[in-house]
Amino acid sequence: MKKTDLKTLGQENAFDLIGTQWMLVTAGNEDKFNTMTASWGGLGFLWNKPVAFVFIRPERYTHEFVEASDRMTLSFYAKEWRKALQLCGTKSGRDTDKVAATGLTPVKLESGAITFEEARLTLDCRKLFKADMKESDFVNKKVMEQWYNDKPGGSLHSVYVVEIESVFES
Ligand SMILES: Cc1cc2nc3c(=O)[nH]c(=O)nc-3n(C[C@H](O)[C@H](O)[C@H](O)COP(=O)(O)O)c2cc1C
Repeated sequence: MKKTDLKTLGQENAFDLIGTQWMLVTAGNEDKFNTMTASWGGLGFLWNKPVAFVFIRPERYTHEFVEASDRMTLSFYAKEWRKALQLCGTKSGRDTDKVAATGLTPVKLESGAITFEEARLTLDCRKLFKADMKESDFVNKKVMEQWYNDKPGGSLHSVYVVEIESVFES
């Protein structure tokens, strides 16, 4: 895994990268961390910084780690790891050892943040902003109904804006 220029991200299509390929959101430190799959989010430019947007429901075990950490990593994988991402998106770290179950190998970055050896791309990010969605924030109430009222998926998401400080490729 090698640190690379942030400009590398210009070659990626964020719609495909997050929405189709999915990512692992990992927070914590080498002693205790957790990871989960996410396919909602974005990459962009805010406050003159390269940023990512991540949406995590409070029920997720990962939410606790994200809340307790200054940093998180967003990591992306080749197709062969799809099953591992499926597992990290359907089992909770509360009762499953995701590292043992997937065969992913945790790696500590120079910042102290955790990613996995098998990632083809890792974004090492610092938290800048957090907000909890509220029902009254929804301009289009149908979105609220569709994704939160009618579905047993869980509570309204916490929204995190994180600065992409470093990019690693393998
Ligand atoms: C393809 C896919 C995408 C997902 N995207 C998100 C997401 O963007 N935000 C979220 O809160 N949960 C998302 N999830 C659900 C979590 O990954 C799932 O609840 C996971 O088991 C949480 O693990 P944890 O309790 O160890 O944190 C997604 C699941 C899958 C399979």
